[in-house]
Amino acid sequence: MLKIVLAPDPILKNVCEPLEQVDPQHKLLIKDMFQAMYEANGVGLAAPQVGINKRIFVIDPQAREEIQTPMAMINPKIIKISNTLTTFEEGCLSFPNHYAELERPEEITVEFLDENNKKQILVTKDFTSRVIQHELDHLNGILFVDHLSRLKRDVIIRKMKKYKKEIKQNE
Ligand code: NI
Repeated sequence: MLKIVLAPDPILKNVCEPLEQVDPQHKLLIKDMFQAMYEANGVGLAAPQVGINKRIFVIDPQAREEIQTPMAMINPKIIKISNTLTTFEEGCLSFPNHYAELERPEEITVEFLDENNKKQILVTKDFTSRVIQHELDHLNGILFVDHLSRLKRDVIIRKMKKYKKEIKQNE
């Protein structure tokens, strides 16, 4: 089982490398990432969150619903964004129990490779768009707290440092 990296950690601040193509090893990683994501009750997980510096993430906006919709995105690129912004509450598996409302574009067009090396284009809005934008940020070393005011960010980071110290002591 892959272990999810908790913030703050320099691993989460790296800009990840694109893949030339998806090979069987990446497919295995993707499978393990889905497992870790569902296990943690998340809707998205990016490779740097499991310590891998590659442009890969997995999402399932319906992870908590009956019918699941797993999607892996490799080398994703947002090629179009709407001018309309929406506010959503975001969380992150690297920040357990922390949530914050933030504004992002409502609709995006994203181009990516799927796990079978096929180029795909997806136009999406609402929750799926939000999850993709959050995960794509991870591949550029950007965390959801980086979109908050410095004050709000510092509070969360301080709490995370304390939390990490506590779980380390209990290990
Ligand atoms: Ni996240």
